[in-house]
Amino acid sequence: TGGTVVNATGTATADVLVDGENIVAVLAPGSALLGVDLAQNVDAVVDATGKYVIPGGIDAHTHMELPFGGTNASDTFETGTRAAAWGGTTSIIDFAVQRYGERVEDGLASWHAKAAGNCAVDYGFHQIIGGVDEFSLKAMDSLIDEGITSFKLFMAYPGVFYSDDAQILKAMQKSAETGLVTMMHAENGPAIDVLAQQLYETGKTSPYFHGIARAWQMEEEATHRAIMIADLTGAPLYVVHVSAKQAVEQIAAARDRGRNVFGETCPQYLYLSLEEQLGASSPEWGDFEGAKWVCSTPLRSRPEGHQDAMWQALRTNDLQMVSTDHCPFCMKEQKELGRGDFRAIPNGIGSIEHRMDLMYQGVVTGQISLPRWVELTSTTPARMFGLYGRKGAVQPGADADLVIYDPSGHTSIGYEKTHHMNMDHSAWEGYEIDGHVDWVMSRGSVIVDESGYVGSKGHGQFLKRDLSQYLL
Ligand code: URP
Ligand code: ZN
Ligand code: ZN
Repeated sequence: TGGTVVNATGTATADVLVDGENIVAVLAPGSALLGVDLAQNVDAVVDATGKYVIPGGIDAHTHMELPFGGTNASDTFETGTRAAAWGGTTSIIDFAVQRYGERVEDGLASWHAKAAGNCAVDYGFHQIIGGVDEFSLKAMDSLIDEGITSFKLFMAYPGVFYSDDAQILKAMQKSAETGLVTMMHAENGPAIDVLAQQLYETGKTSPYFHGIARAWQMEEEATHRAIMIADLTGAPLYVVHVSAKQAVEQIAAARDRGRNVFGETCPQYLYLSLEEQLGASSPEWGDFEGAKWVCSTPLRSRPEGHQDAMWQALRTNDLQMVSTDHCPFCMKEQKELGRGDFRAIPNGIGSIEHRMDLMYQGVVTGQISLPRWVELTSTTPARMFGLYGRKGAVQPGADADLVIYDPSGHTSIGYEKTHHMNMDHSAWEGYEIDGHVDWVMSRGSVIVDESGYVGSKGHGQFLKRDLSQYLL
């Protein structure tokens, strides 16, 4: 009661009535319904006066337990979704992996086995297609029935997940035919691998050189190529983890031509930079500390204006949403695998717990509006990936996934402070947020309150998704 309900469409002071797992009404404050005084006739009243009531966050890009770089991402579905809950995220869409040579059905089944019964919040899957061939193309026909309406291809990582242009063309033809959204990791992997090898051979082995090898030209080129093949085939294209301003320009140009081309960025590309990664050095790790921020696409140079361009694109809708690409690895025994050779550092940053806070900071600093905050972190992810109606808005009929966010609260991010991800460090150490997740409800169950996490493993259910609701 009494909070400011924030939806993508605007704000209103309203009470929100929840029955069972659903929102059943959004009402003028203190109103009676059919002559019944609500405050006197409900099981519980939560006072949200002075606070925002928002739809639970949807993180549409996570990698729990991803096998990568000779190790596995350190958050399980249990630990990762619990951290999500702490941070006001009540749905995730993780990437089920089909490895090259494996059947898509088997890759998907193994992902269901990892997640089922372990999640604190609801979860869906995208399908990584690690090898496009006649078998995986056939298997893609049944993905929609499985509630999986998007798949990811990689133009990077030759020898791991890579698709060449011929494979991309075939998969995009399938995408156009079925309505599955093609998600693209757009970096020119073969060229990057040559650059990385050359750097390594000249003694440039520290984490910083990961970002030098993965130059923005490699992102712009791959983004352009993906857009052109999508243009030719008619596939809807969603470019993941966009970090280069030149890649955004490619996306914006395609959108200006009326194409179904979309893009996400991630908090790391809004806040962190290659320069800070270069300057990082700790007593424990020396210049290897930079490994904490090794991810792909990489952090970009701040003087080149990439971070500012990402914020601007979020305002102008050249980019439509913010996901984390949560792919955590510990420094000890994981990132450490790449000491002396940046190519062997497992790629990824853990941010699932902090996305709502970090993006709210954009409201505080005047980079985005309050409704846009909700749109970027919940409403558009829901529409883009076929969850809208159930998720993404505080409206009657929706799942009661609600967050009470206190704009006068404070959150100090750091390993010894707010940190529930299964990692031995925070990539966000020292970030101070003018705002706080006070209370979180998932499908009608309170999972975070003033005492902390009160949810349960297994509460989260698999989300069978509809086709994208964002396309024409
Ligand atoms: O560095 C990253 N992004 N790791 C996760 C895998 C991917 O490419 O999304
Ligand atoms: Zn990727
Ligand atoms: Zn990813």
